[in-house]
Amino acid sequence: MAAPYLCNPIEKFNLFMSYDNNTFQNLISHCKEYGYIFQSSEIYDGLAAVYDYGQNGAQLKKNIRDAWWKTMTQMQDNIVGIDAAIFMHPTTWKASGHVDNFSDPMIDNKDSQKRYRVDHLIEAFVESLEKEAGAALIHQMEQLLAADDLAGIKQLIIDNNIKCSVSGTCNWTDVRQFNLMFSTELGSIADEASTIYLRPETAQGIFVNFLNVQKTGRMKIPFGIAQTGKAFRNEIVARQFIFRMREFEQMEMQYFIRPGSQMEWYEHWKAERMRWHQEVMGFPAARLQFHKHIKLAHYADAAVDVEFEFPFGWKELEGVHSRTDFDLKQHQEFSKKKQQYFDTEINQNYIPYVVETSVGLDRLVLATLSNAYAEEKWNREDGTPDSRVVLKIPANLAPTKLAVLPLTKKDGLPDIARDIIKNCRGAFPCFYEEKDSIGKRYRRMDAIGTPFCVTVDHQSKEDGTVTIRYRDTMTQKRIHMDDVKAKVLEAITV
Ligand code: GAP
Repeated sequence: MAAPYLCNPIEKFNLFMSYDNNTFQNLISHCKEYGYIFQSSEIYDGLAAVYDYGQNGAQLKKNIRDAWWKTMTQMQDNIVGIDAAIFMHPTTWKASGHVDNFSDPMIDNKDSQKRYRVDHLIEAFVESLEKEAGAALIHQMEQLLAADDLAGIKQLIIDNNIKCSVSGTCNWTDVRQFNLMFSTELGSIADEASTIYLRPETAQGIFVNFLNVQKTGRMKIPFGIAQTGKAFRNEIVARQFIFRMREFEQMEMQYFIRPGSQMEWYEHWKAERMRWHQEVMGFPAARLQFHKHIKLAHYADAAVDVEFEFPFGWKELEGVHSRTDFDLKQHQEFSKKKQQYFDTEINQNYIPYVVETSVGLDRLVLATLSNAYAEEKWNREDGTPDSRVVLKIPANLAPTKLAVLPLTKKDGLPDIARDIIKNCRGAFPCFYEEKDSIGKRYRRMDAIGTPFCVTVDHQSKEDGTVTIRYRDTMTQKRIHMDDVKAKVLEAITV
């Protein structure tokens, strides 16, 4: 039975949802206003491409990380998790190829001194072209990058009259490679031997621990090692909010396999990761696609991106890479320690091959928020317009699961509300609020993405029932207060 203060049912909505650049700017403002994401060191005017997560953002990020960890470790027979240090012996990065190869081709405009990653410069230019011409130019660029033809790339920029957005000129330097690793000094002696790097990927912490985990865990191939943690890249052109950051978090899993079986496992993990994005993250299939790499990283024999349709276009969310035995072989050579596995089933010693899945946690947060953000407008029954901004974050990922709202501050209603919270908060995060009208409180919960609101009113005192309101549909139902916890738990269990 609906109480008189309830909103109109969903059928009355004239619901619209736009997904464009304006909405994206609104989303960025919304993230700040509702405690999701702040510019780092904002009181000092911020630090480019570095962000802080606020109270709701940190919880959303943790929920996504936990969901990934559960799928990749707890739900698997043969994948275990580790937590390696950010600092690693500097030879790690020589062996992995990052010192020599981890760079992006850049070009500077001589008039404005502005530096661009060439692919970003060309991609931005393509946005001004017709679809077919744009696709042709991207294809040409990809071919040239795959061939490491830096002079050819510069010529492509000049032939297409691509200008610097600041100076408006085509006065370009040659294209050069810039290494993306941050370095710092370990200890007090500033000689070359003490130069160490902030890890640009978490994967190497797994490779150097391959034998530790295999032996102590008595792991049999095929098996995996997973970890989540910070990675750092000196991105020259950092754009699009938390999409491309200088400090970000990766969630990676290295799956160690028999040489020759890599294509089978590559297909397996491609399919598994696509399934996870849909079933656990709740992304619609239409907003996900695979994009096969033409230019392979120095370690890969096959690679694909899982792309998400962000408000600014299709972009990489996750990579699935067949890394061969490149990394373990390199570490064996540089460390002079054997990185081999004795396979008792086939009586052979070999360096395992690896298929990795590597997803950016911050990109998952951005994809979740982009997918969830909606500006809705409708007319009430009496014709007056109404509106709301809502984050339709899947219930399993939402930072706060349940808000408990006493209709008034008196008549013992807050006590009942507090009892419900006491009963539920051990199982999931709850929020209590008694200030403002119930309508305003609902809107605030919509804005932070709380999937369930429970309102305690005078009828609750008589028969123990409360109103449960569903964020996405705004529909409401009376249920017994003893059933609240089970109802929410059912909805957040994936
Ligand atoms: N170990 C393999 C590896 O690091 P990658 O494609 O360079 O592969 C994996 O990175 C994922 O890390 C990307 O798909 C992306 O989600 C995330 N990522 C990479 N650079 C990032 C950045 N600057 N900001 C945010 N996320 C980033």
